[in-house]
Amino acid sequence: MLNPSLAPETPPRALTGIQPSGVPHVGNLKGMIEPALALQSTHEAYYFIATYHAMTTTKDPSLLREYQLEAALSFLAFGLDTSRTALFLQQDVPEVCELSWILSTLTNIGLMERAHAYKAAKDVGREINVGTFCYPLLMAADILIYDSNSVPVGKDQKQHVEMARDIALRFNDRFGETLVLPEPLIQEEVATVPGVDGRKMSKSYGNTLPLFLPPKKLRKLVMKIKTDSTPVEKPKNPDTCNVFGLYKLFASSEEQSALSESYLAGGFGYGHAKQELFEVMDRFLAEPRERYLELASSPQVVEQYLAEGADRARKVARATMERVRGATGLSLRQ
Ligand code: ADP
Ligand code: TRP
Repeated sequence: MLNPSLAPETPPRALTGIQPSGVPHVGNLKGMIEPALALQSTHEAYYFIATYHAMTTTKDPSLLREYQLEAALSFLAFGLDTSRTALFLQQDVPEVCELSWILSTLTNIGLMERAHAYKAAKDVGREINVGTFCYPLLMAADILIYDSNSVPVGKDQKQHVEMARDIALRFNDRFGETLVLPEPLIQEEVATVPGVDGRKMSKSYGNTLPLFLPPKKLRKLVMKIKTDSTPVEKPKNPDTCNVFGLYKLFASSEEQSALSESYLAGGFGYGHAKQELFEVMDRFLAEPRERYLELASSPQVVEQYLAEGADRARKVARATMERVRGATGLSLRQ
């Protein structure tokens, strides 16, 4: 059977990954973690920590260990249910590297040259290792090896998911219907979350609001958010303000209307707006922070969850690889 997850009695599959390249932040939460967790009730979900991907930029073993745990804790603290959803480390299913190689033999260099991860590295003059160049191939393997139907990601990853789909089409065209065509699932209403400097919030820009900071440290960072120089007494535009942009992600609609009115009325400084932002953020993050601290104090529990998740993921991956090996002629028998 091509895609066991399309059999009528089984739910569709969701898959996503996060790189352990830093401490997870509000952009990751709103762009990906929350939408992914919302799918747990309707999908068979496979969520993983993309450690091989992070190795293209992170060369420090102790940091890599720390960040893998942080990423896993983030999913768990916000409600990943390990009895339904497989949470695992990418390297615990090394079959993805085999699939990535096979896909590389079907992919033209031109497609990789158009990929965002490669172009971004080139734009900032970063060293471009072969791993960075082939980043979308490994990501395609991650997606295709689990017969994924839906891939919840932030807008910046849409292109990579579309590439996975193109590569799967090419494979199926050459070797017959073998791989499932995935769809990106983007929260259109969550615009790219701005960082404290107003650019996209990203671990690689050092402009993030991390998810589990102690309240005092979080407040200090919130107070640093870049705003324009409109004087206190003048009206301000909420729609172009980074503070308001972040506020919308955590406040009720009544709170949003009230803050918007204060902006438009004038006589209300950005310092006040930042304090209000801090308060709604802290209200939202307090409970997950507790869960995070509790889990962080027993890493062996997290490791056990990851081991169980890997077992489940590996079963699916092996079945796909059997089909792929059969279709390509890698296995001597079909
Ligand atoms: P980063 O850019 O911080 O390294 P990742 O590349 O690990 O983050 O992204 C993990 C997930 O979080 C991806 O699905 C990505 O689209 C989403 N994401 C990251 N930053 C943002 C942001 N600022 N706004 C919305 N989604 C984001
Ligand atoms: N490239 C993704 C990011 O930086 C992480 C990732 C790796 C991923 N493999 C994936 C996301 C497969 C979704 C599906 O955010």
